[in-house]
Amino acid sequence: MPVLKIIQAGNPILRRKAVPIQENDFSEMVSLADDLRETLIAAQGVGIAATQVGREVQMLVYRIPASRSEDDGEIPMTVLLNPQLTPLTQEMTVAFEGCLSMPGLTGAVPRFKKIGLRATLLSGKVIEQEIGGFHARVLQHELDHLEGKLYVDRMTDFTSFGFSTELLEAARNTQKKND
Ligand code: NI
Repeated sequence: MPVLKIIQAGNPILRRKAVPIQENDFSEMVSLADDLRETLIAAQGVGIAATQVGREVQMLVYRIPASRSEDDGEIPMTVLLNPQLTPLTQEMTVAFEGCLSMPGLTGAVPRFKKIGLRATLLSGKVIEQEIGGFHARVLQHELDHLEGKLYVDRMTDFTSFGFSTELLEAARNTQKKND
């Protein structure tokens, strides 16, 4: 199970739409899913889409540690095929995101607070779920990759965009001033 090279922003592959995976091909997807899991663990990330390793198919892998989860608890490593999202509210929430294809950078991104997810598991089982909080944010970020979008495309305030080290430093200084 090799760790794959993660494609970096600027590469046109990240701007292309991934194609749906046909049911006959599910079994062929097992090794790609394994590689994505290994790659995500090695990169210490939360989620990764197949397009980020140059495979233009609708697959994403993610996990949510209990420390970052709001209401859903820990989400173990999950592989989704052909995921589809529907916003279940017009309400948005803004939070900082990073991306394995843009290391070191971060920005504040508005996302829907609550979404409906429909996806297929590697077993072929179709799942439908209502998802909120950080879990919903992760899925919106990863699904965007399958549409050829990056989180910067969703940003509205670019004063929040930059290297996370600098933004953290700036936040600390503001905090000090306010103390
Ligand atoms: Ni990303």
